[in-house]
Amino acid sequence: MKPNDLNEIANNDKSHVWHHLVQHKPWLSTGPMVIVEGKGMRVKDINGREYLDAVSGGVWTVNVGYGRESIADAVRDQLVKMCYFSNSAGNIPGAKFASKLIEIMPGMNRVYYSNSGSEANEKGYKLVRQLAALKNDGKKHRIIYRDRDYHGTTITALSSCGQSQRKDQYGPFTPGFIEMPHCLAYRSANGDDPDFGVQSARELEKIILREDPDTIGSVCLEPVTAGGGVIVPPEGYFETIQEICKKYGVLLHLDEVVCGMGRTGKWFGYQHFGVKPDIVTMAKGVASGYAAISVTVTTEDLFEEFLAEPGDTMHYFRDISTFGGCAAGPAAALENMRIIEDENILDNVNKMGDYLMDQLRELQQKHPIIGDVRGKGLFVGAELVKDPTTREPVDESVAAAVVADCLKQGVMIGRTNRSVPEFNNTLCLSPALICSKDELDEIVASIDVALGNLTAQVETSKSRSKAMA
Ligand SMILES: Cc1ncc(COP(=O)(O)O)c(C=O)c1O
Repeated sequence: MKPNDLNEIANNDKSHVWHHLVQHKPWLSTGPMVIVEGKGMRVKDINGREYLDAVSGGVWTVNVGYGRESIADAVRDQLVKMCYFSNSAGNIPGAKFASKLIEIMPGMNRVYYSNSGSEANEKGYKLVRQLAALKNDGKKHRIIYRDRDYHGTTITALSSCGQSQRKDQYGPFTPGFIEMPHCLAYRSANGDDPDFGVQSARELEKIILREDPDTIGSVCLEPVTAGGGVIVPPEGYFETIQEICKKYGVLLHLDEVVCGMGRTGKWFGYQHFGVKPDIVTMAKGVASGYAAISVTVTTEDLFEEFLAEPGDTMHYFRDISTFGGCAAGPAAALENMRIIEDENILDNVNKMGDYLMDQLRELQQKHPIIGDVRGKGLFVGAELVKDPTTREPVDESVAAAVVADCLKQGVMIGRTNRSVPEFNNTLCLSPALICSKDELDEIVASIDVALGNLTAQVETSKSRSKAMA
């Protein structure tokens, strides 16, 4: 493209596009970054500057990396053959992907297509609400979610959101959602207790009993909490959650929107914990962002609850998703899955995930501002604190400054962002699942430099105030 065309595009973006999750005022003069191409783990902006992307497209999505021609080819071939038909009918990639997906999810059997993580979760909630109406006079319709978890952006998904800053100013919310405590050991009084996992899962039972088990339909949890601070559940946690769900007839809905399709080193996050969910939702990594697709997967038992004679006119899942019928989504998802299998990507996630954790733990020895390093696979967080002994969190602006410094160095890292008041202090890394040691070294080196610069700034301002006193 000619420089003038590029300028025009940048101006069009600045003048007309309303971007997500940002205050636009500073951009009224400068304009946002416009990304024009990507290959592997690197992207280029409209000014030709290259960046190493440690967050898979900003929000843990482009898991198999940029520039995959085979996915683009699969989507193109599908679109010219048959682009769309409403999901009341089947299509070839939809049927193929469903059966491939079920192969890697023992115990699950039905796949419902839609096109965003929020929507997939809403389907899960609607199943619970309708099941309550069909079986329990509507009583068992309430849904428990967890502090710090996120399940999407729509008003009902936000009603199940454990990140109060994401919810602020968007109420009133949908009734029937109840919050349970988070399970982050680093931020819990009894976090060092070897039994902490079981104890924190028992909070679910307390809530079910307090609220009346006959009213609770499901509990919706992230297997590893993402935007709430990269929280890996402590040992024994999910096993206990499962036991409680069984005891009180509560469905287990696991939100794999971030963890799903390999991010944590297994196909799904829940597969680390040996649990058997009733509902699993996924989106981002399903097609690595090459097409918009999300799915709500259920057991056959749950599906069968909705079977009835045609004369029973209201006894079927009366949900519709127009773009759930886009054939590009499953076509991309099929090829995405083939790549993960053929390139042995889960193996890479485990090896590189361990390496990344080790490197960050080494960095923690050098920079006491890193209070905690945690993660699973290529899904890692480093929580920043003012003092490792008191664990007082740094201000959000400090985490933002580290991210900005890395960006200046040409490395895109992430952070918890206006989610949990006082705890927007975790740096987030979720590189593509194909990353190499060299790329991880580059990412960690940029954080090292950024934290060094931060310390230098603090020292300078300390000596300035000393000199002024
Ligand atoms: C765990 C989790 N669930 C659901 C969602 C919502 O997905 P979407 O933005 O595709 O609606 C997100 C988005 O970040 C997420 O992190």
